[in-house]
Amino acid sequence: MAARTVIELDTVRKAYGNGTVAVEGLSFSVREHEVLALVGPSGCGKSTTLRMVNRLVEPTSGRILLDGEDVTTTDPVALRRRIGYVIQNVGLFPHRTVEANIATVPALLGWDRKRTRARVTELLDLVGLPAATYAKRYPHELSGGERQRIGVARALATDPPVLLMDEPFGAVDPEFRRRLQTEFMRIQRETGTTVILVTHDIDEAARLGDRIAVLSRGGVLEQVASPLAVLAHPASGRVRDFIGDGSASRMLALARLQTADLESADRIVQPAPAPVRLGARLTDAFEAVAALPGSAMGRVPVVGESGDVVGSLTADGILGALRRAADAAVSDAPVPDAPVVDAVADAEPTAAADAADDTSGHQPAL
Ligand SMILES: Nc1ncnc2c1ncn2[C@@H]1O[C@H](COP(=O)(O)OP(=O)(O)OP(=O)(O)O)[C@@H](O)[C@H]1O
Ligand SMILES: [Mg+2]
Repeated sequence: MAARTVIELDTVRKAYGNGTVAVEGLSFSVREHEVLALVGPSGCGKSTTLRMVNRLVEPTSGRILLDGEDVTTTDPVALRRRIGYVIQNVGLFPHRTVEANIATVPALLGWDRKRTRARVTELLDLVGLPAATYAKRYPHELSGGERQRIGVARALATDPPVLLMDEPFGAVDPEFRRRLQTEFMRIQRETGTTVILVTHDIDEAARLGDRIAVLSRGGVLEQVASPLAVLAHPASGRVRDFIGDGSASRMLALARLQTADLESADRIVQPAPAPVRLGARLTDAFEAVAALPGSAMGRVPVVGESGDVVGSLTADGILGALRRAADAAVSDAPVPDAPVVDAVADAEPTAAADAADDTSGHQPAL
């Protein structure tokens, strides 16, 4: 059975009062329990899109449905209780303690003190900031990364069915960022929350997203597809530019070893090298093959669930697996009409000029 659609944008347009068209003709849907990673260069309308979903910004035209209900006719307060929101640059209330910040929505819902305190303690543990040290502090007494973690804890406070996250891990150092990502994936799997995650980082999008939506300037949708499909078959030059180099190694991290990629176990040289598991990431399979001693003749044993050897794998097998994964990955949204995209591209400054004013500083302009 196809998953239920939780969020649906239908030809949404947003023109701000100053004439900026932040989003144009944007249509996509987010399925229940899915993480949709929304990516694109600075200023392409990602935050505007999130803010329209929870009615902090009203669309100029088009419709946004949450569980089939038009958000513009839903009471904004009721709406925000159903939607957790991690605000870009955090947006903690400066005059409230960490504890009070995290308890914002529980307070709205009238939770009692005991339940609220227990939840705050649990969430602070989760983001690695123990309550004993941090609960009574004010936002100005935290580092940027700590503030960001409090922002994530606040959004998770009442286990909302829908979570909008705007660059939630941006100011956190790489090691802790990875830990938070792993923790986020665990919580999301457990709770089944439906998530739109905005990020500039294609690796974060590929790691956390079930699907990736790529926007270009003016809030135009270039592609919505699984991470593998975006990497293997970028729908336009803009998507390719956004991804940059390294698609093959990113795909190795996403694709998994299957029976079809194996050869017979007969040719494994004894003593057999350490095996890889069926279903392992191709990165791990590749590392196992690369680490073989010369005597192993470039062949690792592959074991199944029970630990029995089910075949052998060579470097050719890994390349075949990568091609198979790329062939199997297909885009699930049509690419916008080429002539329209070209017209926009012609009207834009050069890529070099764009890159220079891209405040993210590390992504090429779309
Ligand atoms: N309140 C506003 N009034 C006028 N223009 C705005 C407003 N908010 C955003 N914009 C403009 O709309 C466009 C999209 O902004 P938005 O914040 O959605 O981009 P973004 O993709 O989130 O960028 P970033 O990656 O830098 O956070 C930009 O050109 C921005 O200057
Ligand atoms: Mg933004």
